[in-house]
Amino acid sequence: MQAITVYGSQSEAYHRAFKVFLDHTDQKANARAWLQDLVRSLLSRRVFIDAGAGNGQVTAWFVPSFERTIAIEPNDSLRDELRRACPSAEVIAEPILEAKPSATADLVLCSHVFYYIERAEWMATLDRLASWLAPGGILVLGTPDYGRWIWRFLEGAYKRVFPQGYATEHINQYTRKSLRKEIERMGLVVQDIQYVAASEMIFKAVKPTAA
Ligand SMILES: C[S@@+](CC[C@H](N)C(=O)[O-])C[C@H]1O[C@@H](n2cnc3c(N)ncnc32)[C@H](O)[C@@H]1O
Repeated sequence: MQAITVYGSQSEAYHRAFKVFLDHTDQKANARAWLQDLVRSLLSRRVFIDAGAGNGQVTAWFVPSFERTIAIEPNDSLRDELRRACPSAEVIAEPILEAKPSATADLVLCSHVFYYIERAEWMATLDRLASWLAPGGILVLGTPDYGRWIWRFLEGAYKRVFPQGYATEHINQYTRKSLRKEIERMGLVVQDIQYVAASEMIFKAVKPTAA
């Protein structure tokens, strides 16, 4: 493990800073359009699981496309907003490792959650996300790529603008290569990797149907 400076896990400054950045680009709209195409391309749209749904803003984009939505969110105050944003969703008030969704999913989305999770729990968390997929189901996982200079540049710039938003923690960080390897170890097949703002990577991986 290596000592590095990152955003405090509970930091609102990070979210504000990234949002300010995204508000001045078309990157979030591009990511939404890419996800909408992906949802349209699914052969089945029975169940959608959003793991770490936050305030439900992103969850709400896809609720109308699925018969059922299951949203996992352990944070009490965000969960209230989530329920308002997605009143028809089944909400699970537990972290991914403890959640037990009542159905397997055609789409599992896990966006901007992994940097909240201890390194020691990443593999178990990935394993859990993969286990919630129905055969042919898709995992979409979005997280910063620390292998890209632009993310490190953005992070450094945010640190100067929002110094109160940082804490020094001991973590390892995913890069495109390391995350791909771990997703493949779960038996999933990586089909696509998109980038938001050239720094956040979004993996699309499928659970193969039985031969
Ligand atoms: C930055 S927000 C992202 C929200 C949403 N997915 C999005 O992309 O807008 C991260 C969310 O992950 C949640 N979270 C953190 N650790 C988690 C865990 N172990 N299991 C499930 N959710 C978790 C936090 O409570 C927070 O709501």
